[in-house]
Amino acid sequence: MPPVRLHTRRVTCTTLGIGLAGFGTVGSGVWNTLQRNGGLITDRTGGSVELAIRSILVRDPAKTRATASEVPQELLTTDWRTLVENPAVDLVVELIGGTTDAFEIVAAALRAKKPVVTGNKALLAERGSELFALSRQFDTPIHFEAAVAGGIPIIKSVQESFVGNRLDSIVGIINGTSNYILQRMTEAGLDYPPALGEAQALGYAESDPTLDVNGWDAAHKAILLATLAYGFPIDPAKIHVAGIEQVRPIDIAFAKQLGYVVKLLAVIREHASGDIELRVQPSFIGQKHILASVNGVFNAIAVHGDAVGDALFYGRGAGQDPTASSVVADLVEAARSLALPSGHRGFLPYRDSGNLLPVEETETAYYVRFDVTDRPGVVAEIARVLADHRIGISGTHSPVNPENPDADFVDMVFLLHTCKFGTLKTALAQIESLDCINSAPVVFRIEKI
Ligand code: NAP
Ligand code: HSE
Repeated sequence: MPPVRLHTRRVTCTTLGIGLAGFGTVGSGVWNTLQRNGGLITDRTGGSVELAIRSILVRDPAKTRATASEVPQELLTTDWRTLVENPAVDLVVELIGGTTDAFEIVAAALRAKKPVVTGNKALLAERGSELFALSRQFDTPIHFEAAVAGGIPIIKSVQESFVGNRLDSIVGIINGTSNYILQRMTEAGLDYPPALGEAQALGYAESDPTLDVNGWDAAHKAILLATLAYGFPIDPAKIHVAGIEQVRPIDIAFAKQLGYVVKLLAVIREHASGDIELRVQPSFIGQKHILASVNGVFNAIAVHGDAVGDALFYGRGAGQDPTASSVVADLVEAARSLALPSGHRGFLPYRDSGNLLPVEETETAYYVRFDVTDRPGVVAEIARVLADHRIGISGTHSPVNPENPDADFVDMVFLLHTCKFGTLKTALAQIESLDCINSAPVVFRIEKI
């Protein structure tokens, strides 16, 4: 029987209309995510909120769009005012990019008291002061999780989870395109133009990709993080920004010889004087540093707070679905505030039951250590039982005890291919009853995570 949905708060379900300005890489990802997970989202809001896209702003309505389900043509408009003023639109999502039309859309939505969700870091870094003033004036929030580090929830973390900390530093790789390009230059010896072409094709790059390679996309994000951490608007003209245009395969090769990797790093640090250091530049970091292994479109941000100490965030920093994940999270938060302006906002279970996979059904590879009596044929005896249960062996090892090479009892290690834990348990019970086995085998799982 399917689990019963528990919507015990006696809430009525409010359908909130979304005006989706922009239907490119991220906008169509938002459409797909809401189509796929809309019911789950409603469940997770305790049945209080349903999200429905009511209007979509594009430049070219005739363009073929690769969405998971067909988009009704009547939802499309080329006039942003129609979208913002549509009475069926309660929330406005800005995903057109740039700082001109996007500014008008966000400003108009705030004036209409329609909460805004945006992924536009250039807009907020360059014109955030004006927009946050409107947000305050019209008592209407701007949500921007998708603006920094794609799918990583760093905005919510800095704003909410670390609210009790003084943040000493935030250091990270926050441009997926340049990180992808650096990796392709490192691994395939490409120069950056062809590697950039790949990043564009994958939907990682900005519509103006110079912002990715000249460091300004990362700088816009760093400005937002620093503004959240320290509370004041930061003038982009006052920060040091350099991009990866100057990096050549020869620099990468030299870095490698010297024990480093090249990464585009954003560094934000509060000094004892209260001064804030903020810079973006290609940097050499030690090959063993945790950020050195962050490759491709992945971003990572290391935060140090006086209470939390070190915290590290890692995930996809660009691309359709990861970015849509952040946009949808913001939408749900905005929608909840509209639908349930007061009352219980904490977690409540929303299903009465669910199934847990029995441990016997779980599958991994294994390391098994047997304490065996050292006599001819023991390996074959163990292997026979494993074979009877169709469990493959990827290796065996029997370290000789140097202090007692002639010992009768030895540890014998078997590395086993992936099988169900239940099958392994049955086989081990049988092996344990062999008279060459002296104690219960020790099992570790070999996880592929
Ligand atoms: P995109 O693929 O270029 O899509 C832009 C969309 O906006 C297109 O649908 C385009 O219409 C529409 N549009 C652009 N200017 C318009 C205008 N003046 N009037 C009406 N429609 C207009 O961009 P994207 O990659 O989705 O990025 C959108 C925003 O998200 C940007 O601010 C970007 O910085 C941010 N972001 C992107 C990523 C990512 O991985 N791509 C990650 C995080 C944040 P047509 O389809 O008709 O051309
Ligand atoms: N162009 C950006 C990047 C998109 O490559 O990181 C995510 O903000």
